[in-house]
Amino acid sequence: MKLLVATRNRGKTAEMEHLLDGTGWRVVDMSAIGQDIEIVEDGKTFEENARKKAEAAAKVWKMWTLADDSGLEIDALGGEPGIHSARLCGPNATDNDRTRMILDKIIAVPDEHRTARFCCVMCLIDPAGHKRIFEGVCHGRIAHHARGTTGFGYDPVFVPKGYSRTFAELGLEVKNRFSHRAKAMQQVVEYLKTRVRKPDKHR
Ligand code: IMP
Repeated sequence: MKLLVATRNRGKTAEMEHLLDGTGWRVVDMSAIGQDIEIVEDGKTFEENARKKAEAAAKVWKMWTLADDSGLEIDALGGEPGIHSARLCGPNATDNDRTRMILDKIIAVPDEHRTARFCCVMCLIDPAGHKRIFEGVCHGRIAHHARGTTGFGYDPVFVPKGYSRTFAELGLEVKNRFSHRAKAMQQVVEYLKTRVRKPDKHR
């Protein structure tokens, strides 16, 4: 069965493909579908944005659709960048510019106050239009310097709780075991497994 993931972020699609491997579901994203829709992420919460993205895509393609909204909340910045994570530093900024900016903002903050969490909210819509919400959180802290080369976004500065290396150093295989997206996705996968069509015995 096909699941449309309402994103153009190849990093996210790759993580979802990995998590759905062997379940009978095939992931397609909006670039694979060859068409695009403009989604304005102006919600006040991760959930509002996830719903908006999923609804916009499901309205056009009317198939199983999944959208997520995610971001990094840094305690020393009062929870920022949060829902603004993707747009920090303006529309033309790179991941590098954004990580540099948060490192600069908390340059004087000591280790014990560099706590942060990645949050992810997913909205799944079935072909009949029913919606379900799933959430995942991954706690950690912000490193003093960017380290590592895998992943995307803030991975080079996020050290998950219980580890000393950043997500970008740990690699996708480790990250996918307990990241915010993996935690939300594991719940989605459990649900989707119950929806795979069983072969018809009488045919
Ligand atoms: P979204 O595509 O609107 O959900 O944007 C989320 C933004 O939060 C991304 O562009 C990244 O900057 C950041 N982000 C979310 N999840 C992750 C992650 O797993 N690693 C690194 N950065 C992330």
